Amino acid sequence: MRRILLAPFMVLFLALAAPGLIGGALAQPAAGARGAISAEELELQRMLQGGRIEGRTTLPDAQSEVLIQPAGKAWRDFHNVTLAWVGGIAVGGMLLILIAFYLGRGKIMVEGGLSGRTIQRFNLLERANHWMVATCFIILGLTGLNLTFGRHLLLPIVGPEAFTAISLYGKILHNFLAFPFTLGIVLMLLLWVKDNIPNGRDIEWFKQGGGLIGKGHPKAGRFNAGQKMVFWITTLGGAAVAVSGYLLIFPFWGEFGVAEMQLAHIVHSIISVLMIAAMLAHIYIGSIGMQGAFDAMGTGQVDLNWAKEHHSLWVEEQQKREAAAPRGAQPAE
Ligand code: HEM
Ligand code: HEM
Repeated sequence: MRRILLAPFMVLFLALAAPGLIGGALAQPAAGARGAISAEELELQRMLQGGRIEGRTTLPDAQSEVLIQPAGKAWRDFHNVTLAWVGGIAVGGMLLILIAFYLGRGKIMVEGGLSGRTIQRFNLLERANHWMVATCFIILGLTGLNLTFGRHLLLPIVGPEAFTAISLYGKILHNFLAFPFTLGIVLMLLLWVKDNIPNGRDIEWFKQGGGLIGKGHPKAGRFNAGQKMVFWITTLGGAAVAVSGYLLIFPFWGEFGVAEMQLAHIVHSIISVLMIAAMLAHIYIGSIGMQGAFDAMGTGQVDLNWAKEHHSLWVEEQQKREAAAPRGAQPAE
């Protein structure tokens, strides 16, 4: 039915689109023919000049009435060109920066050496939630990047059959892991927001290059300014990809049309690739980039000297709390 109703528009469009007709005939209709133009033809002319072709259908789905939507071309160009460049430069550039940093600065060591005494940094709930978010994020990132770059990078290597299977299961994983990821982000916000409110010390931390550039260790509480950035990128960026992502999973929600869907896709994909780049730096510093850092999310216990160098104010606070606690009391795990 939809096809039947749209057919006259399609025939007219194809006829007008024959060489030179669209521009010439529509811009300057022959003087004699002007009076003979019907209301329908005028409407069609208006739509063609706007580049959008829309008909009428009896289907409940209003989207099926759109035959040609010029913004779709701009959106395709965004996906194939802009996103590929932004993603390629952000992710590739960050990897190059980290390799250069590792070669130049090397692994950041605990200057005073390991003390052999430890202090509890994260409890089991905090660690389990961190790893749930991290695992979901890495799989969401890889399956998402497959949609952006897979056809160019993976398909030529693995062949069409394997690529089809990877993309199909990848898409299913992407849809389902969205839910534990969202849950983890909300829990992360509740657990850590109180220690991540920006304050004056953060400016000082940045002024001193965070101890990453140059020597010395700026004072910091439970989270330093760099970690606060990681926290807000994770929670606010995570919220933005989640909202835009759910709009893509459940399309044409409420009054949303094609233009809004395209916007949701642009927001989702751009924020995602920028987040992936930022998280590469976080993963580097939380693993091979700094001695003693991984333990915080591994066993939950960090070396006392590491803690004093990177979070001196937090250590003082913890020690005061321990001294004030009744004898024999242990910090809760
Ligand atoms: C609640 C979380 C999320 C939801 C609901 C979600 C949903 C979606 C949906 C529906 C698509 C479109 C798939 C298609 O074209 O068939 C998509 C694409 C994509 N997602 Fe997610 N996603 C989420 C989180 C993430 C995260 C955390 C990342 C990055 C780490 C990410 C990266 C991407 C990328 C790169 C694309 C492909 C863009 C493209 O080239 O078209 N997503 N996502
Ligand atoms: C293999 C990957 C990862 C490793 C090795 C890693 C490691 C770590 C470590 C060691 C910490 C504790 C640092 C401290 O003592 O304060 C931490 C904290 C944190 N991680 Fe991860 N992480 C990984 C992936 C992720 C991902 C993918 C996300 C988010 C999507 C994330 C978000 C956070 C946040 C918000 C914090 C608290 C703020 C901070 O300390 O920077 N992590 N991570």
